[in-house]
Amino acid sequence: MYFDTHAHLDDGRFSEDREAVIQEIFDSGISLVVNVGADMEGSRQSVQLASQYDGIYAAVGLHPYDAQAMCEADLAEIAKLAENPKVVAIGEIGLDYHYEEADRVKQKEWFYRQIKLAEQLSLPYIVHDRDAHADCLEVIRKSGYFRGVMHCYSGSSEMAKELCSLGFYISFAGPVTFKNGKKAKEAALSVPQERLLIETDSPYLSPEPYRGQRNDSSKVRFVAKEIADLKGMTEEEIAKITLKNGKRFFGIE
Ligand code: NI
Repeated sequence: MYFDTHAHLDDGRFSEDREAVIQEIFDSGISLVVNVGADMEGSRQSVQLASQYDGIYAAVGLHPYDAQAMCEADLAEIAKLAENPKVVAIGEIGLDYHYEEADRVKQKEWFYRQIKLAEQLSLPYIVHDRDAHADCLEVIRKSGYFRGVMHCYSGSSEMAKELCSLGFYISFAGPVTFKNGKKAKEAALSVPQERLLIETDSPYLSPEPYRGQRNDSSKVRFVAKEIADLKGMTEEEIAKITLKNGKRFFGIE
């Protein structure tokens, strides 16, 4: 049984066949999925999907792409959506200096405010960090609230150690399976078992051998397999450990 801790099944790429895809996901041995909101509409749809399916939980939050236009009303709506018992995290939130859709001051401000919202609601949070490692760490430290996960981890082994010492979890996605994913493989090897999570970030980032195709939660097993190979363990062991870790992190049953 596998736990895909980060998927976007609300994405438009599933609009033709969403129900069938979700059925196949559960039929293939995936027991839990956290569907992650990235904008206001995605957050609403995540809650909707979580109410429809037992095995789907939701995270609500605003991605750094949207930080420029984010306002108090959005934060209030996220807080309101989070009252739903199937909302298990605030996310995805963070900093993206690769696309830099919003200026850095705004990104940092709303990242900080949403961490503080998670703290206020006693929920964990999911961090998107693209080319912004140092500033992410700075905002996290400043917040003083460390119940978070670095999703689709792309930083160094050193940073992973630092995050784990704060109390963070580290999540790996398709890139850990890529031939050029040396840095992610090294980081995965360095993360202690009890802090490890796996995810797909579907429909993006399909693992090998499906790289480039539409991703979905059933492919999280290829991420488990890669990490198992790296650590000299079995895929079943990694599946079991990451399921247990995910339940602990998100406070599920
Ligand atoms: Ni995502």
